[in-house]
Amino acid sequence: MKKIDISSNINEIKFPLCIMNASGVLCSTERELSNLLDSNSGGVVTKSCTYKPRKGNDLPRYFEWDGGSINSMGLPNFGIKFYLDFLEKKKINKPIFLSISGCSSEENYFLIQKANESSKVTAIELNLSCPNLLEKEDMLGYKFHKFIENIFKFNKKPLGIKFPPYFQDIHIKNVAFILNQFPIFFVTCINSLPNGLFVDIDKESVVIQPKKGFGGIGGSIIKPFALANIHKFYTYLRKDISIIGCGGISSGRDIFEHILCGASVVQIGTQFMKEGISVFERLEKELIFILEKKNYSSLNNFRGKLKNIQ
Ligand SMILES: Cc1cc2nc3c(=O)[nH]c(=O)nc-3n(C[C@H](O)[C@H](O)[C@H](O)COP(=O)(O)O)c2cc1C
Repeated sequence: MKKIDISSNINEIKFPLCIMNASGVLCSTERELSNLLDSNSGGVVTKSCTYKPRKGNDLPRYFEWDGGSINSMGLPNFGIKFYLDFLEKKKINKPIFLSISGCSSEENYFLIQKANESSKVTAIELNLSCPNLLEKEDMLGYKFHKFIENIFKFNKKPLGIKFPPYFQDIHIKNVAFILNQFPIFFVTCINSLPNGLFVDIDKESVVIQPKKGFGGIGGSIIKPFALANIHKFYTYLRKDISIIGCGGISSGRDIFEHILCGASVVQIGTQFMKEGISVFERLEKELIFILEKKNYSSLNNFRGKLKNIQ
């Protein structure tokens, strides 16, 4: 039987397997991160960190149901020093992405500088979802351009940006136009769909405490939006900027769809929360099974090759 290869790469960064965790899900504490390092995920991304530790929002702040999840965590994390110190102690055998999420441009410059000083960090995933950072309009224009320009005045590490979902073609086109002018390695799309509401009909109430129950939505129900963002970024970005697909993956079939739309690597959030560390092994098996059936030997056979109806 043909050997099936589901490794991948983002420029020179090699992933033994194209499946990894999504930031924020079971990647905050030493134990969670050690589990991920020991697991057969293809890479590890840490919980988005800030300069100082943050407690995050009041509980309950996460809720899940069959079709997805809602959360308003408020960025609970132990601060960048904790994550860099942890990595320093560890033997690393796969790509390590440090997710950072400063609440001002200056905080992000500082966090990027710190990440640059660590030899254990393979790449930086800059999470721009902190609400204080850039308003939606700023992301599409001059302020965002200036922010990225400043980063590349000093940054030497592979760096990518994690985006919220966009719902209009022109927004993705504008963001891609700016990114194409800089040595960005990757984009990760998408973060949770913002401002969702889940209702418990027995209690006639919301299900999470912060923000009167409003929160970010993840899981199966957001997959079509993830696929749309991946495919549009794939169309508009320079071909050497890779896409990390995130959103709504719970099966090998979902991964196939993400890659067909243009993703090189995929991240698992809600499903990892629901299923635990064994999710990576199951998804790997399911993806290999699909490739076998289709007689494909690697991701290159179908990455980005989504067809239109003729
Ligand atoms: C509990 C929880 C915490 C999260 N924290 C972060 C975070 O710190 N940084 C980040 O970039 N995304 C965070 N996310 C978003 C996920 O990384 C992911 O983008 C989103 O959940 C969509 O993927 P999914 O459909 O597989 O869940 C979080 C999601 C959840 C469910």
